[in-house]
Amino acid sequence: MRKAILAITALGAAVALSAAGCSSTKSSGSSTTGGSSSTSSAAGSSSTGGTPHYTNNKVGVLLPDTNSSPRWVNSDPNELKTQCDSLGLVCDIQNANGSATTQTTQAQSMLNEGVGVLMIVNLDSGSAKAIEAQAQAKGVVTIDYDRLTLGGSAQYYVSFDNTAVGTLQGNALVKCPQVAGKSAVKYVEEDGAATDNNATLFKQGYDGVLSKQAGWTKAGEQSGNWDNPAGTAQSTFQKLLQGAPDLNAVMVANDEMANAVITVLKQQGLNGKVAVSGQDATATGLQNILTGDQCFTIYKPVKGEADVAVKLASQILSGQKPTAPATVHDGTGNRDVPSYLATPVVVDKTNITLPFTDGYQKASDVCTGDFAAKCTAAGIK
Ligand code: BGC
Repeated sequence: MRKAILAITALGAAVALSAAGCSSTKSSGSSTTGGSSSTSSAAGSSSTGGTPHYTNNKVGVLLPDTNSSPRWVNSDPNELKTQCDSLGLVCDIQNANGSATTQTTQAQSMLNEGVGVLMIVNLDSGSAKAIEAQAQAKGVVTIDYDRLTLGGSAQYYVSFDNTAVGTLQGNALVKCPQVAGKSAVKYVEEDGAATDNNATLFKQGYDGVLSKQAGWTKAGEQSGNWDNPAGTAQSTFQKLLQGAPDLNAVMVANDEMANAVITVLKQQGLNGKVAVSGQDATATGLQNILTGDQCFTIYKPVKGEADVAVKLASQILSGQKPTAPATVHDGTGNRDVPSYLATPVVVDKTNITLPFTDGYQKASDVCTGDFAAKCTAAGIK
């Protein structure tokens, strides 16, 4: 991890150097749109201190969906756009609304637009592998963003250390007040989508902790498919709860699924009595922490991922061949993918102000209605 942080700093410094050495006033602009395809228009550059010389300053960014986590609607696209603008890149940011077919169409239109770098958060490895092959055939550099495409050909992978995310989830869950010090704990797991390599890594991380806890018994496990209440997360947890009505803890992979779990627990009057995990520091997740219905979330500062990815794209488009600080092994493709991995942070009641002071969340989005008093008590401004 330490190695990764240092290298991220080095990457930032290298970009700053290259920007300083080559000042020009390239036009920049980025568009963020939903499901349908649209092209970006160049707008005035907001960068300071000049931008690198690019032979091609177009970047395509493919995001996965709008309902598995609000991060794909707000955090990532906003930060990517800000960073693209400041580095003089024209970034076309599209969201596939959960459809791999849509993502493939979006990718093809970006390749036709002539992007020089394509970043992809895949919906499944198979469809992304095909997109990456098409990009490669056109000489376009691909970057796996957040999710590794197994068997793919991305030249770089920019993400968080996802096994570390899972390990933090496991370590934090065993410390939750509902279970801490108990000699016997019954828990169930609601995992992320089986199509997402991150879900596999999160599970490796939390299983590595939970399977070793004395007195902890796993009473069930299901894939939540990254679905929010409208999808499968709620019904899968209903089944898990029927099988283990006396459970003490739910190891659930992210905040939106945690909210589905909490909805079911509320129906049984069990909310707050069962330890519930999460991930993404979403507004809903933070509200559930404030009420005590969720024990913690994993906060993944977006700049550590979005800024690094855009800086990497900038370096590539200015003719450099950056050396990544780490590698992640792709077991399907049997190759080590050069990687930049940022560090996740556990957020619970004790440090809940962090995502706000970082500018990741706004008090106005979280501290609504009844939450206002809770926010004040927690020091959230
Ligand atoms: C991301 C999580 C997100 C989940 C659902 C994962 O690949 O790493 O941050 O909650 O997908 O979108």
